[in-house]
Amino acid sequence: MVNQQSAKLYLDLIKKTLSFSLWPEPPVPVEVFAYKYPLLTRMFLKLLSGFCRVGKMELVKPRRFSQQERHQGRIWPGYADTMIGKHRLDNIQECVEAVLRDKVPGDLIETGVWRGGACILMRAILAAYGVTNRKVFVADSFQGLPEPDEAKYPADKGDTHHVHEFIAVSQEDVEGNFKKYGLLDDQVVFLKGWFKDTLPTAPIENIAVMRLDGDMYSSTIDALNSLYPKLSSGGFCIIDDYALKGCKQAVSDYRAEHGITAPIVTIDWTGVYWRKE
Ligand SMILES: C[S@@+](CC[C@H](N)C(=O)[O-])C[C@H]1O[C@@H](n2cnc3c(N)ncnc32)[C@H](O)[C@@H]1O
Repeated sequence: MVNQQSAKLYLDLIKKTLSFSLWPEPPVPVEVFAYKYPLLTRMFLKLLSGFCRVGKMELVKPRRFSQQERHQGRIWPGYADTMIGKHRLDNIQECVEAVLRDKVPGDLIETGVWRGGACILMRAILAAYGVTNRKVFVADSFQGLPEPDEAKYPADKGDTHHVHEFIAVSQEDVEGNFKKYGLLDDQVVFLKGWFKDTLPTAPIENIAVMRLDGDMYSSTIDALNSLYPKLSSGGFCIIDDYALKGCKQAVSDYRAEHGITAPIVTIDWTGVYWRKE
């Protein structure tokens, strides 16, 4: 018998912890976002950081963001286990609770997990409600985004996501993050590799909630092509990057090609979802 009040309190705390919103945004080592500076400045900072390390010190840069910016998931956070912010975390909870309530069959998947926080929340929701017959699929290259294939996907022309080391998190680190919350078990399945290679043969029969967070046209369309046919009627398709032109284009192309007319619901400035009819 699930105590609803305890489940709610546990999940609220998990979301606050995953998004690191109980604490101020920590400073970051100056090199982390140094790609924004000119080459000479970058070299100077590297040298200076090197000197500091010799003296067992770290050269860091403060990062001051409003609570609103953090809730809206507008920043690349230093310590948080997810970058999607409060509103999109709440949306995951609402969608998963809806499929449990309405008995929509299938597993849960996120394509594009970074440090794993959104998937950790999915697993936490299953744990909170004592659900043992659904899995959470965790799909990522665990080495960042692919270089754009402009010939195949012209919408990705000039995309620079692949240069950001900050977005590349290893599977080992993501597993470690699940472990920190006591949520790494056989209900969590890792799909390591590029979506175009892993998703077509992923061992998933039915999906109840699919959450796409791969930023690019290619990453979004590859996930839709492989996974949407497996989404149960009444299941949710969540798109994290609708504010990005390439991602939005992939969603529009896929919906047009497959005659999907289910209304698109806005979560926040970039997140949207629809429920399969
Ligand atoms: C913006 S991050 C995801 C943020 C994450 N959902 C969160 O909760 O913070 C994008 C992730 O997508 C992954 N990714 C993007 N395109 C991919 C592809 N085609 N194949 C595999 N992984 C991909 C990257 O490695 C990265 O971890």
